[in-house]
Amino acid sequence: MMNSMTATPVTPEARAEQDSSIIQRIQQGLETTPEVHASLAGETPILEIEQFSLWYTKAQAIFDISMAVPRGKVTALIGPSGCGKSTLLRSVNRLNDLIDGVRIGGRMLLNGESIYDPSVDVIDLRKRMGMVFQRPNPFPMSIFENVVYPLRIDGESRRSVLAEACERALRGAAIWEEVKDRLSDSALGLSGGQQQRLCIARAIVAEPDVLLLDEPCSALDPIATLRIEELIHEISERYTVLIVTHNMQQASRVSDFTAFMYLGRLVEYGMTRDIFQTPRLQETEDYVTGRFG
Ligand SMILES: Nc1ncnc2c1ncn2[C@@H]1O[C@H](COP(=O)(O)OP(=O)(O)OP(=O)(O)O)[C@@H](O)[C@H]1O
Ligand SMILES: [Mg+2]
Repeated sequence: MMNSMTATPVTPEARAEQDSSIIQRIQQGLETTPEVHASLAGETPILEIEQFSLWYTKAQAIFDISMAVPRGKVTALIGPSGCGKSTLLRSVNRLNDLIDGVRIGGRMLLNGESIYDPSVDVIDLRKRMGMVFQRPNPFPMSIFENVVYPLRIDGESRRSVLAEACERALRGAAIWEEVKDRLSDSALGLSGGQQQRLCIARAIVAEPDVLLLDEPCSALDPIATLRIEELIHEISERYTVLIVTHNMQQASRVSDFTAFMYLGRLVEYGMTRDIFQTPRLQETEDYVTGRFG
């Protein structure tokens, strides 16, 4: 999709020259301007990332990333291993705070409110964002107690409230029918795919503003993966989802918007359809078609 403001038409040669220089510039540590498509401008952001940088002790992992994550949509973060996808995701709910030596620059806003403001209650912030990791991590307790855990630590103990929330979350995570007769059994007895759907139930039980998913299907077989993908699609009707994935087909199947990252920088960001079918940069095309990365 061309920017209608562009005055002179860009020849394919000039474009190739311009495009190839972006990855080279990143590799050389030079400043770059990401290709952010105009389609983003029509969206209402729930999460605004502004000139965000992050250092692990001395090594910089995120370089000056600015991107707005649209409310009520699924946004995928893609890019080669080590490009900073998980780091960026963990920055959103401040999980990186737990790592010694992490330093940040720039800002992030959730619903217009600063995530890193010193006055922010981090526990409260994390309650507004459910997170699901690569490997299912059910707690060694019953299915029921796993799901209602976030409510319990929030002080809720009324049995009827917990039971209702548990059923709602398990239905929302498309696993209710499979577990409704064994809620007091250990969650560790579930299959990997069931455990991951249980973890999604736990992540949505407190009705978060944003659901953060870090490669949620990479430990699952194709059938379980398909179920989770369907689930992400359903969930997206009620929540904003930010998902990291290595799998290009998955990104194109489940997301509305896709951000391509490389070496800690945002390279191109737009509607998933455009990123996969008509990317502006040759590198994006090479990456999404599996020619590099
Ligand atoms: N806890 C940490 N301490 C120091 N460096 C880290 C830490 N976590 C990640 N890094 C470094 O930050 C960079 C980005 O890593 P990150 O895990 O965010 O990448 P990623 O895109 O999620 O990769 P993958 O696709 O392999 O999961 C890498 O160079 C990595 O080595
Ligand atoms: Mg990662």
